[in-house]
Amino acid sequence: MAKKILVSGVKPTGRPHLGNYFGALKQFVDLQNEYDSRIFVANLHALTSVTDKSELEKNTKDLVLDYLGIGLDPKRATIYLQSDVPHVTELAWIFECITTVPYLERAHAFKDAETKNKEINAGVFNYPLLMSADILVHDADVVPVGKDQKQHLEISRDTGEKFNRLFGETFKLPEPLILEDVATVPGTDGQKMSKSYGNIIPLFATDKEIEESVMSIVTDSSAGVPTNVYAIHSLIRDKESLDKLYEENRGKYKDLKEALIQDLKSFIGPMRERRKEWEESGDKVRDIVVEAGHKMRQVVHSKMMEVRKRTGLIHHE
Ligand code: TYM
Repeated sequence: MAKKILVSGVKPTGRPHLGNYFGALKQFVDLQNEYDSRIFVANLHALTSVTDKSELEKNTKDLVLDYLGIGLDPKRATIYLQSDVPHVTELAWIFECITTVPYLERAHAFKDAETKNKEINAGVFNYPLLMSADILVHDADVVPVGKDQKQHLEISRDTGEKFNRLFGETFKLPEPLILEDVATVPGTDGQKMSKSYGNIIPLFATDKEIEESVMSIVTDSSAGVPTNVYAIHSLIRDKESLDKLYEENRGKYKDLKEALIQDLKSFIGPMRERRKEWEESGDKVRDIVVEAGHKMRQVVHSKMMEVRKRTGLIHHE
């Protein structure tokens, strides 16, 4: 029997952090044997906020290395660039034509951007529909993401459903895969870990960065346990040994931070090494991505032909 299909992506807008890892990336690795996994670099989505060519290029190459560094195996998972499958922009346009403006105005990400009083570009507004296209074009079964993407997945399902209703059964409706324990990983200040809040611990942090970021964790405490330190520590240590450690070191914030630093170093070190090996592997990484893009274009082609036929778009092959 064919494997079920898993699709997910990350935006190349800066270094991924522990929130990205535990909320999503780790699931990509854990599930790569079980699913036909299609993991992409969401570079078209990044264009909504990055307008510097070299920055986008660098972030894109880095994210591919990050995917390999965490242990995605290109023989099992397909690692590709979103822009190498331009069908998704065509599909997003079709979705835009069947979606109302008031519906999109209810999206949290859009409302957040609006309250920050930013000049919002049309890409930000239409963002959830490009994401719907990313997912639906594959007939994905599951989409592992963190909680902040929950609404986007609901929009994807609504959009697929609407298309099916208007044009006939075409798309499978995907299930989100959000792990409750790590749905929202907190940052060094206790808020959601996020590049835009400046509270991250980078996934491939150097030892010095690990030390600095752990030392910057805000130590509000409850009964002698520094809650933010504990919350981050619980990502990488089992509950039993963690509770013992925090019990024995009640009130000793500096020692607990030291312990977290040591554990993070042992956790991050091997991934950093593997990433470095890939980085030094010459053209291999480029070849992997080029081949994956080619494969994905072929895979989505028949779905797009079906979409064109159903919508009345005459297509000359
Ligand atoms: P992005 O790049 O913002 O984040 C990548 C993944 O990391 C998760 N995440 C978190 N999870 C738990 N705790 C946190 N503090 C935390 N911060 C981030 C996100 O939920 C996400 O799963 N729109 C997407 C990229 C995308 C996509 C897609 C994802 C484009 N098309 C199709 C899935 C399917 C994004 O910007 O993720």
